[in-house]
Amino acid sequence: MGNEKISSEEFQKFAELIHRISGIYLKESKKTLLSNRLSKRMKDLELNSFNDYYDYVISKDKEEIIEVINGISTNETYFFRHNPHFIALFDVIIPEFISRSHFPLNIWCAGCSSGEEPYTIAMLAKERGYLNRKYIRIDASDINTEVLNLATHGIYDNKKFRETEPGYIKKYFKQLNDKNYLIDEEIRRSVNFFRFNLIHDSTDKKYDIIFCRNVMIYFDREDQNKVVANFFKALNPEGYFFLGHAESLYFMDSGFKFKKVQDAPVYYKE
Ligand SMILES: C[S@@+](CC[C@H](N)C(=O)[O-])C[C@H]1O[C@@H](n2cnc3c(N)ncnc32)[C@H](O)[C@@H]1O
Repeated sequence: MGNEKISSEEFQKFAELIHRISGIYLKESKKTLLSNRLSKRMKDLELNSFNDYYDYVISKDKEEIIEVINGISTNETYFFRHNPHFIALFDVIIPEFISRSHFPLNIWCAGCSSGEEPYTIAMLAKERGYLNRKYIRIDASDINTEVLNLATHGIYDNKKFRETEPGYIKKYFKQLNDKNYLIDEEIRRSVNFFRFNLIHDSTDKKYDIIFCRNVMIYFDREDQNKVVANFFKALNPEGYFFLGHAESLYFMDSGFKFKKVQDAPVYYKE
């Protein structure tokens, strides 16, 4: 076992299961990726066919599906990704909240991958004197347990700094070797990471600012509607919602209002 190719029927079976559990819609073009990822796991388990592995996944309920999803989710991210969002947040939005004595601010990065997005917020908060539970509390979640594990360890390679000013690297990271850097302890401890599946989990917690950037592009319209409605519920009035810069709620009846803050397109709740 190891290099078998997945058949179209087997691919469909796994794609439907992955879609049902995570909302992630796998295109046929991901067949080789899925086949390689599953084969690796099947080898460890000494299972000989994709159908046997499918039965195993189903019989193990949640534990094994986590392995499958860890293998297929797209986790691309980096520090200061789409900086206009962070400029709007720290130059306009947070100062407005603070001037109205509306704090602590609860911030949620949903679909945070390996943590670069919430850690960018934490570094900027530190720069502005807000990195204190009195002002700001940062939650960050993902469905993928492997990336959450990377996030909590806080070790990054230099590709993650493609948009980071050298001053931040110097100030907030310790170089471990040629490639790898460890994030500053205070920044690391300021973010609360947890597993949260946007399709099946729910929260009663209320937030003032929610980031969910470059996550829902992998969902179909029905799941997008459901997830956006949950964010609307989780957001306090006058709260802000950030989507990826190529994403939009334009065709959705979401209840969110749109505006530009500096150069950043943002959504808010009245
Ligand atoms: C491309 S990354 C985006 C990371 C970051 N938000 C950014 O914009 O740089 C997408 C993340 O969404 C996560 N994801 C996909 N489906 C999810 C779901 N159903 N619930 C929670 N997270 C999910 C993936 O595991 C992945 O880490």
